[in-house]
Amino acid sequence: MTNDKSTIIRLENIFKVYGSRETEVKALNDVNLTIHEGEYCSIMGPSGSGKSTAMNIIGCLDRPTSGHYYLDNLDVAQIDDQALAHIRNKKLGFVFQQFHLLAQLTALENVMLPMAYANVNPTERRDRATEALIRVGLEKRLNNKPNQLSGGQQQRVAIARAIVNRPVVLLADEPTGALDSRTTQEVLDIFSELNASGITVVMVTHEPEVARQTQRIVWFRDGEVIHSHMTPNDLTHLAV
Ligand SMILES: Nc1ncnc2c1ncn2[C@@H]1O[C@H](COP(=O)(O)OP(=O)(O)O)[C@@H](O)[C@H]1O
Ligand SMILES: [Mg+2]
Repeated sequence: MTNDKSTIIRLENIFKVYGSRETEVKALNDVNLTIHEGEYCSIMGPSGSGKSTAMNIIGCLDRPTSGHYYLDNLDVAQIDDQALAHIRNKKLGFVFQQFHLLAQLTALENVMLPMAYANVNPTERRDRATEALIRVGLEKRLNNKPNQLSGGQQQRVAIARAIVNRPVVLLADEPTGALDSRTTQEVLDIFSELNASGITVVMVTHEPEVARQTQRIVWFRDGEVIHSHMTPNDLTHLAV
């Protein structure tokens, strides 16, 4: 963690409502949350408590029904879709439970993909993708397609893809949900290293053993943040 404690993510009075009158679901109900640059946070809470909805808003993949979201001090609720896509590509990296790699592309090609939108020349794309894959320990797998890789290796390709544009924040929604405990640890070790190098990491997990390896735990229930600053030690005293 860096010493710089400037705010990178700030959610202010965020509401998210799905559906209309009869079918209305309040997925987020007045969420306030501040995350500083360099933090390593996990988001926990029961199924349906709004964790993914919050992550999708933080990741600029979805917009809140009301409220303000400041990403690096910019109110992203106020900007148009094109500007939002640009900011997402520049500042954020994503990792999902199901990897979301393109099956017909090699590991290297999958990792080069985000740079297609970032005005990077082909040689530099290849170099940076290779560097990212080395960083996650896959230098021997550059030309393998996803079906020639284990689940843990596929998730590491997805992490390389998420960091190749040098994001400020890495967002991960249940990144170890499809992995066994050994590969889970490999992924967590990579997250720790990335965080130590200065990247802010925010991860949703339902596994206490995973959350325990982060610095701060944010707890959701019924669309609300009920604890915003739990420590791994607090988890020990909670029946989870
Ligand atoms: N696209 C959607 N349309 C309607 N309801 C949704 C949608 N996405 C999520 N919800 C509802 O919003 C609530 C929060 O969901 P979610 O954020 O996925 O929870 P979690 O990730 O904590 O399991 C749930 O009641 C869920 O059913
Ligand atoms: Mg979810």
